[in-house]
Amino acid sequence: MSLETAGPQLADALTILRLSLHVFAACVWVGGQITLGGLVPTIRREAPQSLTGVARAFARLAWPAYALLIVTGVWNVAAMHVGQASSAWNLVFAVKMALVVVAGVGTFVHQRATTASLRGAAAGVGTLATVAALVLGVALAG
Ligand code: HEM
Repeated sequence: MSLETAGPQLADALTILRLSLHVFAACVWVGGQITLGGLVPTIRREAPQSLTGVARAFARLAWPAYALLIVTGVWNVAAMHVGQASSAWNLVFAVKMALVVVAGVGTFVHQRATTASLRGAAAGVGTLATVAALVLGVALAG
């Protein structure tokens, strides 16, 4: 019986570890940005003096998660037979890599911006690129 007709199969332990770490890091990086974005108006209203401290605390969680995404992403590529990938897979992968860079640069600019308009625009670009990278990641997983 070929694997294709055998129905769903469990992943092996190393694959579970690799993809769990990648998805866990994506949860912290993506979910944290969206959650913090939702909390900011309340913090600004209730405790404006805390905003900078909260943002710094979030950055201490978010950047290690971004680094873990890159390390486990390289591990993902190494674990796949990318030489045999379709041209569509390669194209989606290239677009995803560009989005990962835009997400990182957008978030960095957002944290360093000195004007409210640049801060807002960079946050929007960074979050959109991150969510798009997540969706393309799901496509790559097949
Ligand atoms: C913002 C950064 C990133 C996000 C949010 C993200 C998100 C995701 C998600 C949600 C998946 C689907 C996992 C699954 O369904 O099992 C995935 C898969 C994948 N990602 Fe990422 N990822 C990011 C960065 C990277 C980087 C930097 C690389 C490569 C260097 C990469 C390479 C891959 C590959 C090859 C897969 C398919 C893995 C497989 O099926 O075994 N990702 N990603």
